[in-house]
Amino acid sequence: MTTPDQANRELTVVLLGGGTVGSQVARLLRETGNDLAARAGAPLRLTGVGVRDTGKPREGIDPSVVTDDLMGLATSGADIVVEVLGGIEPARTLILAAIAAGSSVVTANKALLAEDGATLHAAAEAAGVDLYYEASVAGAIPLLRPLRESLAGDKVRRVLGIVNGTTNFILSKMDEQGADYSEVLAEAQALGYAEADPTADVEGYDAAAKAAILAGLAFHTRVRLEDVHREGITGVSAQDVAAARDMGFVIKLLAVAELADDEKGLVVRVHPSMVPRTHPLAGVRGAFNAVFVEAEAAGQVMFYGRGAGGAPTASAVLGDVVAVGRHRLSGARGPGESTYAGLEVRPVGDAVTRYYVNLDVADRPGVLATVAQTFADHGVSIQNVRQDGHGDDAGLVVRTHTARDADLAATIDRLRSTDAVRRVVGVMRVEGEDGS
Ligand code: NAP
Ligand code: HSE
Repeated sequence: MTTPDQANRELTVVLLGGGTVGSQVARLLRETGNDLAARAGAPLRLTGVGVRDTGKPREGIDPSVVTDDLMGLATSGADIVVEVLGGIEPARTLILAAIAAGSSVVTANKALLAEDGATLHAAAEAAGVDLYYEASVAGAIPLLRPLRESLAGDKVRRVLGIVNGTTNFILSKMDEQGADYSEVLAEAQALGYAEADPTADVEGYDAAAKAAILAGLAFHTRVRLEDVHREGITGVSAQDVAAARDMGFVIKLLAVAELADDEKGLVVRVHPSMVPRTHPLAGVRGAFNAVFVEAEAAGQVMFYGRGAGGAPTASAVLGDVVAVGRHRLSGARGPGESTYAGLEVRPVGDAVTRYYVNLDVADRPGVLATVAQTFADHGVSIQNVRQDGHGDDAGLVVRTHTARDADLAATIDRLRSTDAVRRVVGVMRVEGEDGS
């Protein structure tokens, strides 16, 4: 039964940030307000939009609600404070102030969550408010709620996917056009996919932050950005892409979080990987994202869609706004942080996967045996070897069975100091070859 108080209730919403995502949240709130009200249970009223430059024209945002007093907005006691500023500060201080003022918070800020999610969660817990962040990973794709809720009855063993659209766009173009990294980066910047300073994307920081959030939810363990092994795509050359293509593979920047065999730890890593062209992730092109979750009872579940962009990300933000709004009206709360498993987050050396190793070696008797022995000495089993002669040298492409990352790294170190090995041309992890 609806009480008279509930019948008169509205849900006030404040936006901290009115840029790419914020402006789309404001537009959708305006254009779809009636539907959102029916779904949330009360009208949603946008009472303020906090920005840096109040003089900037902002299409579709009522100028009377635009302000540069972000702390005033954060502490205004709104039902829902939506943080879409980005970065660590002032976002963290503002979110904590909003929580202290009794507001529930919706944020898209993966950098902050991966750096200091624990502080935000603890504050929300203490204040009895919600902290929702679906938009922080993989834009429009519903992924965090399925992990937090739908898969809460299962045991996740692995999360693997493409969570950065900019790098996926660049790698897809390199594969399609045979172009080099720097050429495609310039094209990605001209098209607005890559930012003027692309470091966070191309060096893997953005994907690593998302991997930390995914791993934390999947394994009920606190995982921070610094726990994630990170390699970007700046070292991927047109030759690497061509070599992968020749072998029936494509290179993708993957985020992987896996439970160890002893089930007491996990490894979380972000790096370029070779993926068979027959694997569903190989077909994820351009700025799209896709994530596989492997759970004990469910088996494989795949999530796919637009991982970035104002409107897709705003869709995820508004899904959270509706969920949090419902809780405000009913006095309920969504799930808080779940870290009960407290697994050890282990170094990448403990990861177990397959590898591709490309070597330039002297073409003389015994060299292949020496190389093979070096792999054997480190317990790395060779799956196959391909040799191409060129003059006095030969190109050796070695593919391995699964091995520990630390063992492969030690093998490579030894090969580098072996006389017959002229150069280690390329080393890359191979994922998804066994259909996983
Ligand atoms: P953006 O276009 O740069 O917008 C940021 C907004 O915040 C702008 O309105 C800016 O004000 C305001 N702002 C930033 N710092 C401020 C400060 N110190 N004081 C006052 N206002 C400040 O960023 P965005 O692309 O919308 O991203 C917002 C958040 O969403 C980030 O956490 C990002 O990681 C996340 N996200 C973005 C995407 C995407 O595709 N863009 C996808 C998923 C998640 P002005 O307008 O005055 O400059
Ligand atoms: N820069 C990010 C990407 C935006 O390219 O995927 C979404 O987080």
